[in-house]
Formats: sequence, C-alpha cells, structure tokens
Amino acid sequence: MSTPHPADQATCDPNWWRQATVYQIYPRSFADHDGDGIGDLPGITARLPYLADLGVDAVWLSPFYPSALADGGYDVDDYRDVDPRLGTLADFDNLVHEAHGLGMKVVVDIVPNHTSDRHVWFQEALRAPRGSRERDRYIFRDGRGEKGDEPPSDWESNFGGRAWTRLPDGQWYLHLFTPEQPDVNWDNPEVRADFLTTLRFWSDRGVDGFRVDVAHGLAKDLAEPLRDLGAGQGRPLGKLPLDGSHPLYDREEVHEIFREWRQVFDEYDPPRTAVAEAWVANARRTLYARPDELGQAFNFEFLECPWSALEFRTVIDTSLVTARAAGASATWVLSNHDVVRHASRYALPIGMSRADLDSWLLGDGREPAPDRAAGLRRARAATLLMLALPGSSYLYQGEELGLPEVADLARDTLQDPVWERTGHRRKGRDGCRVPLPWTVEGPAFGFSTGTPWLPQPETFGGYSPQAQDGTEGSTLELYRAALRLRRKMMGDESLEWVGADDAAVGGVLHFRRSSGWHSVTNFSESPVPVPPGEVLLASGPLTGDDLPPDTTVWLQN
Ligand code: GLC
Repeated sequence: MSTPHPADQATCDPNWWRQATVYQIYPRSFADHDGDGIGDLPGITARLPYLADLGVDAVWLSPFYPSALADGGYDVDDYRDVDPRLGTLADFDNLVHEAHGLGMKVVVDIVPNHTSDRHVWFQEALRAPRGSRERDRYIFRDGRGEKGDEPPSDWESNFGGRAWTRLPDGQWYLHLFTPEQPDVNWDNPEVRADFLTTLRFWSDRGVDGFRVDVAHGLAKDLAEPLRDLGAGQGRPLGKLPLDGSHPLYDREEVHEIFREWRQVFDEYDPPRTAVAEAWVANARRTLYARPDELGQAFNFEFLECPWSALEFRTVIDTSLVTARAAGASATWVLSNHDVVRHASRYALPIGMSRADLDSWLLGDGREPAPDRAAGLRRARAATLLMLALPGSSYLYQGEELGLPEVADLARDTLQDPVWERTGHRRKGRDGCRVPLPWTVEGPAFGFSTGTPWLPQPETFGGYSPQAQDGTEGSTLELYRAALRLRRKMMGDESLEWVGADDAAVGGVLHFRRSSGWHSVTNFSESPVPVPPGEVLLASGPLTGDDLPPDTTVWLQN
C-alpha cells in the first residue's frame, strides 16, 4: 500500500458526503490506457484532472474486481483484488492517491447479495456435499416433486427466467440475477465476518465510502416451505409491500446487517460513508439511510419521475421529508449504468414506463421517434434543478457531455445478460454503457487505441470533451459552471418553495436555498417571466425577460 498522501487526511469534514456531487465511473467504459479496448484504472487516473476540473467532489467506481463479466463486473470473483485487465492493487492505490491529491473522494461499489460462481466459496460449495458448511454460505435447497426436479419455489430472476439452477447432484441454488451470480446466505456468520473484512480492506487503502449493490436483497425469509410469489413478480420498485413482508426484498432483518457495517465505517476518521442501492418506495428507502446504518440511499423515484412540474414537486417534497425524518441527507440521480440515459428518456413521450423503454430499445430506438433536441434541453434543465436541491447529486459518466442512449446497438454486440436471459425480449442496458468519446476523431474517439468492447456510434466524437471544451453553451461547460456555482451557493440543507403552492400546476417549479440561491424551471409549453434577481446561469438561452419552456435558470436574490 502506498504512503497516504498528505491530502488523504486533509479534508476531514465528516459531513462531506451530505451535499456532495458524486460522479459514477463505469470503469470498462471510461478510458482505456493499455489499448485492449476495455477501460482500466490507469485510464481513470489519467483523466482525474478532467473530473477535478469538472468540479465533482467524489468519484464512485462501479466494480473493478476480478470477474468473468457475466453481469458487467457485478459478478465478483474476489472482493479484495483488481481485475488484471483493469490493473493492479498498486494502480488502485495510485488512483486513490491522485484523486485525494486533487481534492476528490473515492467511493467503491460493494456487491454483497451474490458472489460470482468463480468465487472460491462457490467453487468449494460445488465440490462439497449437501448440508455441508461450504454449501451453507449460499442458498442451496432440494427441489420439489418426487424426483426433486422442480425448483424449490417459483421465484424469478431479475434478469428473466427462474431464480434457481440445478446442479448435477440434484440440489438447486438461488440466484436473483444470473446463474453466475449465486446469492449468499446472510444468516451465515462467516459470510458476515468476511464482508466486514472487505470493508476494512478498502477503507484501509483510503477509500472514503461504499455504494452498496442490491442493499434491499440481503436478508431473505427462507423458512420452509418457501413462499411462492405467483405470476407477474415484476420488478420491485413501487411493487413491494410496505411492511417488509416480501420473502426476498426489503426485510426488516436487513437493517441489522447495516448497523454492523456502520460500526466498521465509524472505526475510521472521517467515518466511511455509504449509499444504498435499494429499489424500494420512498418511505422504506430512507430506513437504509438512517445515521446508524448507511447514511444515504439512491432516490430512484426522482429518476423515474416523468417530465412534469407536479410530479417533480411531489417527489422532491416526499424525498426531503422522508430523508429529514430519518436524519439522512437526500439524494438525487437522473442517470446510471442500469437505465436509459436521461437525455434520451426526456426525448420520448412523457411518462413512458420501463417496459415502454424496453420496447423502444428493442425497435432500435426508432418508434416512437425521439425528439433529441427536446431531450437534451430537458436533460440540461433537469440537471440544473437537481444540482440546486439540498443533498447529494449522483452523476453518471457522459451525462456532462449530454450523451444520448445508444439505442441501436447491433444485436450481435450486446453483452448485457438481460438480452439472453429474457429470450431476446429485452435488449438490456448496454446502450448507456458504450465507451466514452474523448476526442472528435481518432481511434475510438480517444477512448482506446484498440477496438472498444462495445461499438461507439459515428456521432460520438461530436459529444467529446474535445468538441465541447471552451465552447460557450456546450453541455460540458454548463456542468462546469453549475458545479462551480453549486459549491459557492450550497449552504444548509433547507429549501423553500417560492410562489403560490399551486405554481406547479402552471408548470413552474421555483425554490430558494438559504444562501439566496433560486432555481426556477419551466416545465410548461409557454415562456414565463424570469423572476427578479441576478441571473447566475441558465440551462438554455433566455428570451429577453422570459424563461422558455424546458429551461432552468439560477438566480441570486
Ligand atoms: C445492481 C447493479 C446492476 C447489477 C445488479 C446485480 O442493480 O446496479 O448493474 O446488474 O445489481 O448485481
């Protein structure tokens, strides 16, 4: 391990995370240093000055651990190492050191619901007999039916198909995602202890926080007989019972696990931070964010909110109230590696569901035809609105370039397991994971000297930082200016709505922060007058004294 950089300890504000902007890096698609077409840690390190210049407070790295990539790295072979294709532990230490030197924190992804099937534990479990200590680290069961050849329950995988796979010896194991991602048994003390070791391993290396994958899935009701869930188990968000009674997700017992993790986080100075990925309704989500647990949880209701002032207002109000009640800080996110990029979502008819978006991807993004200009306009307006809210904003690589979803990826290039697991009924998430363009021209638009692991469309160079750097009105310059101002204006975590309570009905959202910072967004189809105040920044050109549709303006007053 390298000697800590003086800056590693320099910013010891234990509350740095409460109102941070965190930039998500999907390592395989960010920047490739060694030319094998896969982004890597040295590639990230080389681009850290770009992120410091952008003005983010922290970077969050999606998994970079050894993995067969059955699910883009969320199938982890070894939690305490780096995938050799992405670098070494020394490269990781260097990345942390450089990030800290530039004043940025580093958050890593931890995947506790499942290991990969290549993990030493699963390999041991395969070789061990039923009922063994090795099998108890996972969820093995005998099947139903006379010969045990029916799965132990009707549970479905999140990626399609059944959630059980049978071994040659007749037993079945549970996987809520791909068969290469066996779920671990969180009732097993050895499993619990080992994850604490992993948290300490990365914390000791200077990591500032953790993003907790599928946080709502760890505790399960596995009492016999297993409870069938019936047809249409669907996707969890918004469909789970609010009383923790689902056998697989959001159970009360999960909180005990995170209380134990919090004790480890608090062994460090400043305490390590954490954010839960929990696809559960608002009221349940903040339970994960309580101060004696993870501190924050991603707000997916904000991400799923259609382009409507009323809907945004409702989600913002509920999120702030529930976060405050839990003693947590609110979080906001518009894009990540699992969803259609927001510049494209907002280009489509308002209120399209996830299923509609899946169909749109299947048709290669042709029908309904996206209105790209409107999409980008709204994406920029939504981003400014988000960045003015109290709490933390999570940005996804490439959104600062206004990148659209690559909806027409050729089918033979797809890598997301969703594509095969659903029998080609869902195309999956590759369209938001296409390697970033860095230059206008040149091999892989500056991403790699080799062939990128997913093909980039020809238009990508026009979105590159090289194309946008110093260009007035570019999305990159908008993000830079916004992040600079945000740091200056942030203040406390309060927010006050301005104007009549029913202003949202007219399509305008106007709020004020304690520093005198106003954010006004026009969701309507007609211009509205810009309220009084000094204009700090606008997401698009103002027309005289008017705020055009799909535009946000920041004012000081
Ligand atoms: C989370 C990740 C997603 C992954 C899944 C299984 O939802 O964000 O990318 O496929 O967990 O680990």
